[in-house]
Amino acid sequence: MQTDQLLIASNRGPVRFAYDENGDLESRRGFGGLVTALGGALQDEPGTWVSVALSDTDRRVAAEHPGTFEVDADGSRFRLSLVDPGYERFEAYYNRIANELLWFTVHGMWNAPYEPHRPWSSDWRDGYLPVNRQVAEAVLEAGGDRPEVHLHDYHLLTAGRTIRAHWPEAPILSYIHTPWARPRELAMLPDEVARDALEGLLQADVVVTSAPEWSSALRRCTHETLGARLSGETVEHEWGRTRVTDVVLGVDETALVSAADAPATREAGERLDASRDGRRLIVRVDRTDLSKNIARGLQAFELLLERHPEHRERVQHLAICNPSRQSVPAYRAYVEHCEQLAARIAERFGEQTIDLRVVDDYPAAIAALQRYDVLLANPVRDGTNLVAKEGPALNHADGVLVLSREAGAVTTLSGGAITVNPFDVEDQAAALHLALTMDAGERAERANRLRGAVTIGAPEEWLGEQRRLLREAVEARRG
Ligand code: G6P
Repeated sequence: MQTDQLLIASNRGPVRFAYDENGDLESRRGFGGLVTALGGALQDEPGTWVSVALSDTDRRVAAEHPGTFEVDADGSRFRLSLVDPGYERFEAYYNRIANELLWFTVHGMWNAPYEPHRPWSSDWRDGYLPVNRQVAEAVLEAGGDRPEVHLHDYHLLTAGRTIRAHWPEAPILSYIHTPWARPRELAMLPDEVARDALEGLLQADVVVTSAPEWSSALRRCTHETLGARLSGETVEHEWGRTRVTDVVLGVDETALVSAADAPATREAGERLDASRDGRRLIVRVDRTDLSKNIARGLQAFELLLERHPEHRERVQHLAICNPSRQSVPAYRAYVEHCEQLAARIAERFGEQTIDLRVVDDYPAAIAALQRYDVLLANPVRDGTNLVAKEGPALNHADGVLVLSREAGAVTTLSGGAITVNPFDVEDQAAALHLALTMDAGERAERANRLRGAVTIGAPEEWLGEQRRLLREAVEARRG
């Protein structure tokens, strides 16, 4: 696939930087679902990537490398442009608007009688909008004659406005990796924010989400908030038309096989086999994000042990949770809450029953996915939930997947998974019991079905389909 023509913009970039003790710059591949997906598709020709400086180290790199520069990371060569909004503006754009206001809205996570309650307008006008303009300007600068712009996620909802204003013919695709809010939920945003966000998104020729549920919600929002006309997947608005559709994302098998083969994964697996002490494993692997529903997972496990004493000596819940967004107070409180729940379970049923690890430990996560008897992926709401797909691809124990009906992955995995209501702890406890007591034949059959489904929309195919949609839309626009 010819990907050198792509111009990609996302908040988190594909490369992580660090300076060693001699002051030399080290670069490693970045992490997160977005980078995992695109990294797989852009293996050979990474295109040009505009991203935002997220840390002091990134800011130093940005100052040392203005404009576009080339960098190697774990064997791939990237052309990068790093946008530095400065600390204050970044805080408003990333932590207060993207991670609180927008993230909580698209995941339907507000506690309505109390939240949202903060005044947002200055963070929006002086933080989010200017950073989006800065990213758009970097795109225009790096773009030259490049024929495709791909904007990623809820951080960059309004960047399309600036790009379109200066480059009216630009082929623009926006991909939303998160869920999208239903119209009544979007209406919890300040009206100005909701309108700006939708008008910004509709500058794209194509907007893609990861599941039909989210693209349908987005189309309905454009109708209810902006009065756009809907015709199938096409949204007709004052300045033209936008196709709002979905392209399912599957796993990158090659990357998973090489992660599974790594010596660090094998060593982590040996340690894990020793620490599980012969017990069966209920595993979860997540960022410590409120949307992942880690707390209800722990409560469901506690209820399982309460109602089914036969599991107490035989099962362990291993939760490997990568610390995430710890500068947002609600996220710090959530980790504490989960740790308290885990301590209570240990006290009631024994230390061996629960192993909650708040760590960034990729080898242990891969080793756990290879070994689970049950994989719990119970998000409150999730764009896809890639772990629910990576698990069955890696697992060699015919493990059972317990999957939230609010995860985008349910579109392709419902045939093999046990689906649950993520808000109902009893339902999840019952699903865990069912998974643990399922006979070997059914486990094998379900695992087989899942293995067949998880590669649908593998990264190259996923990106190829988006590019096809964009070409089609641009040809139609140009008549
Ligand atoms: C989700 C978002 C990504 C984001 C990732 C990690 O998967 O869709 O855009 O990069 O979470 O979150 P963070 O705030 O650490 O980038």
